[in-house]
Amino acid sequence: MVAAADFSTDTGPRHVAVIMDGNGRWAQARGMFRTAGHRSGMEAVRRIVESARALEIPYLTIFGFSAENWGRPVEEVEELMLLLRLYLRSEIADLHKNGVRLRVIGERSRLAADIVNLIEHGETLTAGNSKLNFTVALSYGGRQDVVQAAQKLAEAAIAGEVTPQSIDQDAISARLWTAELPDPDLVIRTSGEQRISNFFLWQSAYAELIFLDTLWPDFSKADLEHAIREFRRRERRYGAVVTNR
Ligand code: FPP
Repeated sequence: MVAAADFSTDTGPRHVAVIMDGNGRWAQARGMFRTAGHRSGMEAVRRIVESARALEIPYLTIFGFSAENWGRPVEEVEELMLLLRLYLRSEIADLHKNGVRLRVIGERSRLAADIVNLIEHGETLTAGNSKLNFTVALSYGGRQDVVQAAQKLAEAAIAGEVTPQSIDQDAISARLWTAELPDPDLVIRTSGEQRISNFFLWQSAYAELIFLDTLWPDFSKADLEHAIREFRRRERRYGAVVTNR
């Protein structure tokens, strides 16, 4: 058992981002439908929010549904949207009670109107909370994020608000969907796959990447603690020689 105090925010990570992978394989290994894996995956989402809160991590982001996930079979997309509705309906009050601020990033216009309403309700209700900044990336793609930031900059240039020469890294960061969030220090991917899969391409420039064999539905507080320990071990080893951070 590790006490929460051992994970105080002094030594980071400040922002943990998670690519939740392996729901399908988890279900397959049990002779169940993929949808059963997603349902168990939703329970794991509840667990990681609770764990992040207990470990006093200030920012947690999960990759809930990628822009590319729209290409999955219609029934699977419908099931994922159903779970998202279920999650938002059942969790928003609890998130608020526990001091969690909810944000959703991604191509919101592609989501159904009732889901957008639930998201807006959740974001408004929890806007004053600061115990944990919990962000769900939905219909999110890292390249799409950079593209929409470029479009905003082009519009600002046309309006005479910026000049091409004035565009720097901060100007781009400020127009990404993640503008209100610090860059992730730690990106975790479950299920043994070692890819970023169009997640935080810009934002992960200096992040530590940790790949776990655990399938997402099995993800526990112990896995999060393990990843944080590994993150801190790497920080201690390389912190003194890396100056450009
Ligand atoms: C990857 O597993 C996971 C997803 C595509 C979506 C994650 C969704 C959930 C955890 C359900 C609930 C979501 C929210 C936001 C409440 P996979 O299907 O790619 O697994 P596989 O690689 O083993 O096939």
